[in-house]
Amino acid sequence: MQQKQLPGGGTIDAIGLGLWDFGGGDSPDYGRDDADLAAIHNAIAIGYRHFDTAEYYASGHSEELLGRALRDYQRSDFFVTTKVSPSHIRYDDLLAACDRSLQHLQTDYIDLYLIHWPSETIPLSESMRAMNHLVAAGKIRHVGVSNFDLPLLQEAVRLCDTPLAANQVHYNVLHREYMQNGVITYCQAQGILVTAYSPLLDNVLAHKTVQAIAQQHNVTGAQVALQWLIQQPQVITIPKSSNRLRQQENWGADTVVLSAEEIDQLNQLA
Ligand SMILES: NC(=O)c1ccc[n+]([C@@H]2O[C@H](COP(=O)([O-])OP(=O)(O)OC[C@H]3O[C@@H](n4cnc5c(N)ncnc54)[C@H](OP(=O)(O)O)[C@@H]3O)[C@@H](O)[C@H]2O)c1
Repeated sequence: MQQKQLPGGGTIDAIGLGLWDFGGGDSPDYGRDDADLAAIHNAIAIGYRHFDTAEYYASGHSEELLGRALRDYQRSDFFVTTKVSPSHIRYDDLLAACDRSLQHLQTDYIDLYLIHWPSETIPLSESMRAMNHLVAAGKIRHVGVSNFDLPLLQEAVRLCDTPLAANQVHYNVLHREYMQNGVITYCQAQGILVTAYSPLLDNVLAHKTVQAIAQQHNVTGAQVALQWLIQQPQVITIPKSSNRLRQQENWGADTVVLSAEEIDQLNQLA
């Protein structure tokens, strides 16, 4: 799997597994545990080593399932991202949320900890003070944000004692909001990772240009859409799939080689 450089040192797989809808939706659904755990183990067998979850997902049960699955492996072989919800980003709340996530994940550190959404009421300086404390305490390795526009992202960079590692945003072939608002260009200039979420949504797979390019290469539309993302500097992505064949398909996007002309065609879609 192609690696991308993390600001502040280390590397990360360009394709990880998104764990929204694992363990339930907004609330836990314990009845699916066996299937969800099997899906995580399938992903690991395919080669996935980078996982994306959040305290919000199934109210912590997505984190719990990942923790249970990773118990059987060497922790240092994996890269775990989780996120603190905006309702928990006051200083003390954030420290407590991190401890809960560590407990759910059955680990003593989080590789990348993100502020899931900005808050309209809590000053970012307070949240970033807590994030800096967590890095100094060794509980998190890298600090990041999610759904941050350019002015907020620049403020986060200023307030972070360590190089801000990532902004996780909605980005795909047909959704270019964060390209249009300057976030992606800024991240690329600063070496900050852009984690593209929902890489396959917005009817990307049905688009005729995506389909035509896929046919040319004898690959799938999903593979074209994912490769288009990860061939961009600093861009990584976290497609979610509970299905072994689709996990395998998405993993295989890494080896698709798009021509400059095809990339140009895809660039023009939005
Ligand atoms: N930071 C944020 O605010 C935020 C917001 C949204 C998402 N995220 C993260 O980003 C991850 C991915 O985003 P997402 O879940 O919204 O969307 P996505 O990964 O683009 O799409 C997931 C959907 O596509 C299906 N799928 C997966 N691979 C496929 C393939 N090869 N062909 C056809 N269908 C396929 C999945 O179904 P099956 O499971 O049945 O394959 C699922 O229904 C999430 O899991 C989460 O970790 C973060």
